[in-house]
Amino acid sequence: MIDRLLDRRLIVVLGKGGVGRTSISASIAAMAARGGIRTLLIEADLRGPIALSYGKSPTFEQVELEPNLFAMTLGGQESLEDYLSFVVPRPILRIVFASALYQYFVHAAPGLRELTMMGKVYHEIERRAPPLKPWKLVVFDAPASGQALSMIRTPFAARETFGDSVVGREAQNIANLLGDSARCAMVAVTTAESLAIAETLELEHTLASLKLDTAAIFFNRVSPAAFTTGDIARMVRCGAGAPALKHLEVLAEVARAELQRRSRERRALAILRRQSQCEVLEIEERKGVTGTALASRLIEQLERDGAPDLRTAGD
Ligand SMILES: Nc1ncnc2c1ncn2[C@@H]1O[C@H](COP(=O)(O)OP(=O)(O)OP(=O)(O)O)[C@@H](O)[C@H]1O
Ligand SMILES: [Mg+2]
Repeated sequence: MIDRLLDRRLIVVLGKGGVGRTSISASIAAMAARGGIRTLLIEADLRGPIALSYGKSPTFEQVELEPNLFAMTLGGQESLEDYLSFVVPRPILRIVFASALYQYFVHAAPGLRELTMMGKVYHEIERRAPPLKPWKLVVFDAPASGQALSMIRTPFAARETFGDSVVGREAQNIANLLGDSARCAMVAVTTAESLAIAETLELEHTLASLKLDTAAIFFNRVSPAAFTTGDIARMVRCGAGAPALKHLEVLAEVARAELQRRSRERRALAILRRQSQCEVLEIEERKGVTGTALASRLIEQLERDGAPDLRTAGD
């Protein structure tokens, strides 16, 4: 599954707030880069958490994180104006930017900001002019579900509204890229939390209504199956009749709560697998690990579980 994803030019990482979009985006991008794919990570979050995790300042210009891996933030005024300068000649643009009317439209016109953001992503894939080297892969850590969906919808709506004009043609190009499953993959991240599962299913449904496939769902933060009820019972038996081991009963309570959490997760996973059309990949919770260390642990898991085709080929 991972190999099929890394074959594309664009991977859009979607999901509810806080489910792990940034962590999964960072892992996919670093995995691609370490496999020799020249990769750009676009962060919709202006605080640039991924650049920061590498000790780099977030910027709207590309910054190198590790060999083959670059990042930039998206959505600031600068990145939008940088993109627009490829669509509108620069002298005209300077006048446009200075005008009160432009300022009014950017803030008031529904979807214009989203369209320019998607335009910038498109531009990085299709229109990097020499001496800039092209990206083989762009991973887009998108905003949380609602805003991301309006970003994805906008080019489809704008190509109808603007027809055969500069904006209409640009919207058509972006829509073509998003709709081409050989070039673009939409992936969703969720946790076992019921709201996150509901949003993921709704996301898949909305994408399908735009004729866009969800290539994969990452079911994140699954508790590792480290022990069973039998292990807990054995531990309690050890403590029985030995007052010095009384604390074992407290530990057993904690362990039981953990098992309950795990069975809630299995139920959520079963619902997701039943109701979704796409492949679901489980990603383990890595307690106490964050940033680049977390990305490295997640990559180990993706390499282990996400490439079944490779493993079977090697068997
Ligand atoms: N598999 C995991 N194991 C352990 N911690 C994780 C895992 N995935 C994510 N986290 C932690 O969960 C928190 C939220 O993750 P992350 O920032 O990636 O989510 P997000 O969806 O990008 O959030 P936001 O909506 O705020 O952008 C972070 O502290 C991250 O380190
Ligand atoms: Mg994030």
